Amino acid sequence: MELRDSVTKENLLRAFAGESQARNRYTFAAGLCRQNKLPVLEEVFLYTAGQEKEHAEVFYNHLKQGGCENVTITANYPIDLPDQPVKLLELARGHELEEHGDIYPSFAGKAEEEGFAEVARHFRQIAEIEKVHAQRFERFAKLMRENKLFVSDVETGWICLNCGHVLTAKQAPAVPAAQKEERRRKHLQYTLSQLGMAGEKGAKDIVDLCLLLMERGEQASQVGVGALCAQLSKNPKSMEQRARRAVERGLFHVASLGVEDFNNEIFSYYSARLFPFQEVRAEMAYIQGRGARGKANLKHFLDGMLAAADED
Ligand SMILES: [Fe+2]
Ligand SMILES: [Fe+2]
Repeated sequence: MELRDSVTKENLLRAFAGESQARNRYTFAAGLCRQNKLPVLEEVFLYTAGQEKEHAEVFYNHLKQGGCENVTITANYPIDLPDQPVKLLELARGHELEEHGDIYPSFAGKAEEEGFAEVARHFRQIAEIEKVHAQRFERFAKLMRENKLFVSDVETGWICLNCGHVLTAKQAPAVPAAQKEERRRKHLQYTLSQLGMAGEKGAKDIVDLCLLLMERGEQASQVGVGALCAQLSKNPKSMEQRARRAVERGLFHVASLGVEDFNNEIFSYYSARLFPFQEVRAEMAYIQGRGARGKANLKHFLDGMLAAADED
């Protein structure tokens, strides 16, 4: 029998679609884990998502080699409604077990019956991997349920996902301050580059000001920019001036994006968070040749940066 005339081609497409969707679902779940400040679960989901892509490719290649240009199927696929990481782990485990115990064995049986031994072998091999996926998700779901993701009853090895250092203890060590600061610095720099400010002299000053505020748990509107600059620089006046110029640049950049396209993502995300909106409006009008420039508000910008960093 040709693959083109078989039921197996439909099963291959069902499997390809299932793996592709699993990859996306796990990538979305990884994002939610990141938002929940659980990088270890983010890694678990991303690691597994990468493997689902490989599975999808195996099935896709069979369809390609069989010259199946267009395949029509009806099938059911899950939508994972909850947003809690533990629930997502439990649901993922369930989907994996279904593939392992039910779907792929039956696809393998059909492929054998239709004379596609190689396809059958792949369905069986991948079914075994899905079992490992289910076990992995269950392991982490259990740790979450028992509140043991970061503590253990016995001495155990804790690996740093950043540098690979392993520490033996009953509890995961806190992220070292230097590492935390480095992560914050990178994140702030990324935001400034999105705002077209990374090349400005004052960009570094803004990062330093934000880091100081984060460390002290304060806001620029409480402390005042002058006092902060005095802590960081021998020449606080010029530091403040550089930073303000960088903010002017950011205001211009964001306003330009808004003039080009009011739905621009960077414009919609940052214009309201980092700048007084009336100033963005004024700057947009200025770019369009109407009226005076918007005013850069450094205090407002710094507090906006802190709030945006908190959101991520
Ligand atoms: Fe898979
Ligand atoms: Fe899987």
